[in-house]
Amino acid sequence: MKRILSGMQPTGSAHLGNYLGAIRNWVDMQDEYECFYSVVDLHALTTRPSAEKLRSNVLELTIALLASGVDPERSVLFVQSAVKEHAELAWILSCHTVLGDLNRMTQFKEKTEDDPGVANAGLYTYPILQAADIMVYRATHVPVGEDQNQHLELTREVARRFRHHYGELFPEPAAVNSPTPRVLGVDGQTKMSKSKGNHIGLLEEADEVMAKLRGAVTDPQRLRRTDPGCPEVCNLWSLHGSFTPDEQQKEIHEGCTTATIGCVDCKKMLCDNIIAHTEPIRERARALRADPDGVMDVLRQGNEKARAEASATMALVRERVGIWDV
Ligand code: TYM
Repeated sequence: MKRILSGMQPTGSAHLGNYLGAIRNWVDMQDEYECFYSVVDLHALTTRPSAEKLRSNVLELTIALLASGVDPERSVLFVQSAVKEHAELAWILSCHTVLGDLNRMTQFKEKTEDDPGVANAGLYTYPILQAADIMVYRATHVPVGEDQNQHLELTREVARRFRHHYGELFPEPAAVNSPTPRVLGVDGQTKMSKSKGNHIGLLEEADEVMAKLRGAVTDPQRLRRTDPGCPEVCNLWSLHGSFTPDEQQKEIHEGCTTATIGCVDCKKMLCDNIIAHTEPIRERARALRADPDGVMDVLRQGNEKARAEASATMALVRERVGIWDV
């Protein structure tokens, strides 16, 4: 069976970009693949959260993943920091990563260009830890949004370098993108992300979602309610593509291009459809929140399974690289 590893940072609860770009695929791939899904708290440390915030974010993201349909009976759901082999392999891989490759990483450049103060060494070497996350399970496939494809390229390069030096051990993992690999934020400018504050939370209630949509940028040419709009240039149209039934999409397209419906009507329909889609997820999340010990138990069991796999790989790695087992 083909094996998957993917990860998500606990920097707050999941947003619609995470859901459409990654989580939906995580859930769908559970029948076909052997799946390892990780809440990557060591990666989130690069943003230097308080201890309390990090702990509560791990719990909240785990709840969002379980509520979305990640099934601990079929997948291993675990916390990255509980499996110390990730950090150990990251060190070994860092000795096989050339600086030129790290310097090309656009995510590091984007995250640090607005605020050079956030550029710590952890953020710079972040893609090496990501490579270790994947390789320590010898995963063959990695479901991610488009923004992670470059990190996957680096993982493949590191796997090739390791093979060149020590022989065959790791597969070169392939990125698996969803049909919506890049979801824009409500500003219509950049990808949806928590750090940009342009996101809609997966578990947000109707009033919060509507407040975000009310401020969302739509077709910039449509200045008045009576102007015909162009859905194809409207950022919200793509969200309709994910949440609105086909019939209603046709009506909206027609109504927008003939100015029979305005952006406010269109936003209201989108809000209703997002809420209808996410309501079962919110409901499961409420139940899970009422049982935090049960959620921690799921992680405990996942951590144990992940440790068994990771330590088996590391025994092979140590032997290959010449580390004494004494
Ligand atoms: P993170 O936590 O930023 O995002 C988690 C997943 O959500 C996807 N995603 C999006 N997809 C479409 N549109 C968007 N606006 C959007 N925003 C986020 C991301 O592509 C990702 O799949 N470095 C990773 C976490 C990581 C990882 C790994 C991933 C650590 N180790 C190993 C895969 C394998 C990250 O920061 O994702």
